[in-house]
Amino acid sequence: MEAGLPLPSSSLSQLILTQDDLKKIAAYKAVEYIESGMVLGLGTGSTAKHAVDRIGKLLRQGKLKTHEQALSLGIPLSDLDSHPVVDLAIDGADEVDPYLNLVKGRGGSLLREKMVEGACKKFVVIVDESKLVNYIGGSGLAMPVEVIQFCWKFTASRLQNLFQESGCVAKLRTLGEKAEPYVTDNGNYIIDLYFKQSIGDLKAASDSILQIAGVVEHGMFIDMATTVIVAGELGLIVKNK
Ligand code: 5RP
Repeated sequence: MEAGLPLPSSSLSQLILTQDDLKKIAAYKAVEYIESGMVLGLGTGSTAKHAVDRIGKLLRQGKLKTHEQALSLGIPLSDLDSHPVVDLAIDGADEVDPYLNLVKGRGGSLLREKMVEGACKKFVVIVDESKLVNYIGGSGLAMPVEVIQFCWKFTASRLQNLFQESGCVAKLRTLGEKAEPYVTDNGNYIIDLYFKQSIGDLKAASDSILQIAGVVEHGMFIDMATTVIVAGELGLIVKNK
């Protein structure tokens, strides 16, 4: 599909769409939620990137107005210290369950994203349909936990033991052929948890993880999304909390 405006959902089934096309369609839909003057939270990842590109384009065309000087894409940057209340956050996700709970952080930015998205009035999640799961962990892919570097093996084994009944395997995230530890934007490591079955009550799981000294934050975003936009072969679905 050519880069450009998203197609009406009725047209999607007549085209051969790549996963990236679907991400772009969901992202462009989310940008429609933006009004001039809003304080925005923007996430990372290949889906969120499409939203950022689109916002940059609208700013350059003068279709969105901002108060401050634009940076490279025309988007002025701020932080939570200056803007403790964010009007709208737009971000991708790695998993979305039927209750709109999420896994995020396979790109490694879960802590900062959780801080921003926890401070926003509306949190719009943009995904292609491959991200939908029956339960958190259901994709068989990682649920990331950010931990401090000190004695990370000890922290990893405590995490794995916590979810023994779900067949949990905890692995340090590494990079490259040398398998160097991946270091987050906060200077921490990531322990990726893999589950063979559901971990049950997510709130209880979250509390247990956060009680482990050495854990900084985990990638379950429970009850945080207000809207999830899913782009699939059959069209766009907008799910509201
Ligand atoms: C980064 C994230 C991303 O939003 C998540 O990994 C989805 O990425 P993509 O849109 O590239 O599939 O949580 O930490």
